[in-house]
Amino acid sequence: MKITYLGHSAFEINNILVDPFLVMCPDYRPEGITDIFVTHAHGDHLGSAIEISKKTGATITAIFELANYCTAQGAIANGIGLGGWINYRWGRTIAVPAFHSSSIDYKFNGGCPCGFVFEIDGKTIYHAGDTALTSEMKTIRELYQPDIVMLPIGGHYTMDIEHAVKASEWLEANTIIPMHYNTFEVINANVKDFERQIRELGKTPLVLGINQSIEI
Ligand code: NI
Ligand code: MN
Repeated sequence: MKITYLGHSAFEINNILVDPFLVMCPDYRPEGITDIFVTHAHGDHLGSAIEISKKTGATITAIFELANYCTAQGAIANGIGLGGWINYRWGRTIAVPAFHSSSIDYKFNGGCPCGFVFEIDGKTIYHAGDTALTSEMKTIRELYQPDIVMLPIGGHYTMDIEHAVKASEWLEANTIIPMHYNTFEVINANVKDFERQIRELGKTPLVLGINQSIEI
């Protein structure tokens, strides 16, 4: 599987995009993207999802209220709720709780925020979206045993490094990818400190540069 970090909380995983807020990666061109997942309606996650869907025909999967908004804007969208597997040709996905808020244009109710667990190419990936540390992560570990997790570390709006390290411990995943840091001053975080603490847990921190890809 190929994972590319597009900055902030945006990733390309094979043929899917997650939270495509692309200001850190303005030259990014979606190629072969079939599906776009949006964890919540905040602009730094919805990003260019609607434009990309309209341009490429990719389907947005998001919580029901947000999907309806995307459809009203002319995108193709699949509205889902928390807690049921959704099957795709390339694997399956389940929306899991995130402890955060969600608003369209930072004003109107965007439904509930979520994270996603993906099963792709025999691996399980958990993208936490924007969330506080929550004991839901113990349930996510019990039910899905993720191999790779993407966790926010920037604090202020989400978990900070201290809580992301605790989440990594609870999730028992081996590979931890930090996200949602250093995009704005208020979410600046010392990623070296995060890397060190994850190594001390005996896990592998995977700090990706903007536009950096890995085969995993
Ligand atoms: Ni947010
Ligand atoms: Mn955010």
